[in-house]
Amino acid sequence: MKKKLVVLTGAGMSAESGIATFRDSGGLWDRYPVEQVATPEGFAADPELVLNFYNTRRRELLKAVPNEGHKALAEMEKQFDVDIITQNIDNLHERAGSSRVVHLHGELMKARSTGDDSLIYDIDPANSDIRIGDLCEKGFQLRPHIVWFGEPVPMIREAERITRQAEIFVIIGTSMNVYPAAGLLMDVRKNVPVYLIDPKDVSTTRYDVHHIRKGASEGVKELRQLLR
Ligand SMILES: NC(=O)c1ccc[n+]([C@@H]2O[C@H](COP(=O)([O-])OP(=O)(O)OC[C@H]3O[C@@H](n4cnc5c(N)ncnc54)[C@H](O)[C@@H]3O)[C@@H](O)[C@H]2O)c1
Repeated sequence: MKKKLVVLTGAGMSAESGIATFRDSGGLWDRYPVEQVATPEGFAADPELVLNFYNTRRRELLKAVPNEGHKALAEMEKQFDVDIITQNIDNLHERAGSSRVVHLHGELMKARSTGDDSLIYDIDPANSDIRIGDLCEKGFQLRPHIVWFGEPVPMIREAERITRQAEIFVIIGTSMNVYPAAGLLMDVRKNVPVYLIDPKDVSTTRYDVHHIRKGASEGVKELRQLLR
């Protein structure tokens, strides 16, 4: 039986793929106020600005490729039963070959109806913008399939269930500032080893975290050696 390895990833996981993190200086939030582009109120106030913000993110994503860290996590499925829980809206884990990925904050390559949450559509990479006037089959405007601040996080229950089964828990590239994602660490059972891969200090609710102070690519390499 393979051991269950659960990995919680954040924006730092994709930094080496050229996708900006939010909180590092020079990050996206320096340039775009969160209230404007990542809240339902911001969307109501100026839907076109918000659609364009995500259209730009999507075009960047289409040019980006998975980094060595994403690829190494996918390869680890040979030795471990790997589940990825990501706060990222990109699809770089999937494109690297990871088979089980839970997206807590939604997916950039999907669109959702503003009138019926159950209507979710894959976005065609060849025609990736969502525009004002793009409608779902019931006639409602489409929006990005993203969890904005102040909105419920429907995948958190599934993420908690997976986290409780972890035999090894790994945190990569998240400042652990955004809840409920950061609270998942509380669901990790007591004797389960916890590894953290991040070049910077990250404060967590557990004192026994093994910190690998490196970027995602080098850090996952070191993790694999430690777990050999
Ligand atoms: N790729 C994406 O989909 C993406 C990008 C930016 C933001 N977001 C969203 O923004 C929110 C921000 O929270 P967060 O905690 O994920 O991000 P964050 O920006 O708050 O934290 C990023 C963390 O990554 C670390 N980091 C920077 N470079 C790294 C590297 N090369 N390797 C490993 N770690 C590195 C930083 O030290 C920091 O601790 C999330 O809700 C997420 O959904 C997603």
